[in-house]
Amino acid sequence: MTTLTFLAAPGGTLRGCLRVPGDKSISHRAIMLGALAEGVTTITGFLEGEDCLATLRAFRAMGVCIEGPAQGRVTVRGAGLQGLSAPDGPLDMGNSGTSMRLMAGILAGQAFDTVLTGDISLTRRPMRRVTEPLARMGARIETTETGSAPLRIHGGQRLTGIDYPLPVASAQIKSCLLLAGLYAEGDTRVTEPAPTRDHTERMLEGFGYPLRREGERTVMLAGGGRLAGTEIDVPADLSSAAFFLVGASIAPGSDLVMEHVGLNPTRTGAIEILRRMGADIEILNARLAGGEPVADLRVRHAPLRGIRIPEALVPLAIDEFPALFVAAACAEGVTVLTGAEELRVKESDRIQVMADGLNALGIAAEPTPDGIVIQGGALSGGTVKSHGDHRIAMSFAMAALRAAGPITIQDCANVNTSFPGFVALAWNAGLAIQEREMA
Ligand code: S3P
Repeated sequence: MTTLTFLAAPGGTLRGCLRVPGDKSISHRAIMLGALAEGVTTITGFLEGEDCLATLRAFRAMGVCIEGPAQGRVTVRGAGLQGLSAPDGPLDMGNSGTSMRLMAGILAGQAFDTVLTGDISLTRRPMRRVTEPLARMGARIETTETGSAPLRIHGGQRLTGIDYPLPVASAQIKSCLLLAGLYAEGDTRVTEPAPTRDHTERMLEGFGYPLRREGERTVMLAGGGRLAGTEIDVPADLSSAAFFLVGASIAPGSDLVMEHVGLNPTRTGAIEILRRMGADIEILNARLAGGEPVADLRVRHAPLRGIRIPEALVPLAIDEFPALFVAAACAEGVTVLTGAEELRVKESDRIQVMADGLNALGIAAEPTPDGIVIQGGALSGGTVKSHGDHRIAMSFAMAALRAAGPITIQDCANVNTSFPGFVALAWNAGLAIQEREMA
């Protein structure tokens, strides 16, 4: 078996103007709501990464007619909330936690049985956080003994709305329950401990589904409504742009513009954290696109300093910490992160895996149960393992811009889950990176 390795040469600057691929969270939801809507949904800017393709294939397997993707364009001929049909076999969600957790909510409300499965990483991730509240709504779902996938979802159950305070700040759990709520009798009300990404809420409204927000943290919808097909313009993914925000910030001489980036306020924690560290990030042409704020981002090199990251920013930057840890490694002084134990149950244990990688590159990084302490310093070259985690791989690729020697990053195939074309885009911007199939 071969694995994909990145070889990143040291030094370089990031310059020019680029557009990173479409937002992963919004692309998943566009397919899901489009499939459950009545009428046609046209999506532009769709992320053609493996995660979103897993969602797309699952709905095709349940009889939904979906054309594309072709250059980011997808046409979904909605089947209506009651229009899905039983798939022939298990639905494979690959590496995608978002697909599995959101689909569990939708499938709990169907008349037929389904099985959701995934790759080694996904079948290790915690699923009780969705199956327990779904069971309270009346769903019947079996997990493994440890509470992970495969999920066996029994159809034909009557769901009833619940009032659920989320035990963790997770948009996936919130979205799962709201989607199940579409099929439930009565009201489904979800309260989060801290604000998390609200793309599901925004998009439900865009499909004409009424929901009510109560304060900053509670959202409520009543089952039994209808979704109407619509047009969705998916902005570029801030989580993908984050690698370049960090890369350009740490590489002297950099000056980079990224176009049409989604700047939903529940996602912008990384910009806030980088600015507190001294980064030079300008927000240009701020505008609205399909119910989501977007803008162009200009980032120029700036000396960074270590900070204590405010815990309130953690859910707003949850996917960007691997990249932020590289920024911290290049900053003057110490960066301290707390309140981020969720990072341990992402595609990899992102606290441990990043600490190991930074240590291998000569940086003092000390994991703690809920965070990390990173002492800024000089990055050496070396070899790091991504553990099949796309965001770890891309973060260490950017680290090469400031390293004293080449960085070899192992196990990078999953970069395709969220950022197809990363190597070519990064190369064109000024990062001397190549990919190799290794035995
Ligand atoms: C996502 C929510 C987050 C995030 C993931 C995408 C979503 O997960 O890490 O990449 O699209 O709802 P959690 O809800 O587990 O924090």
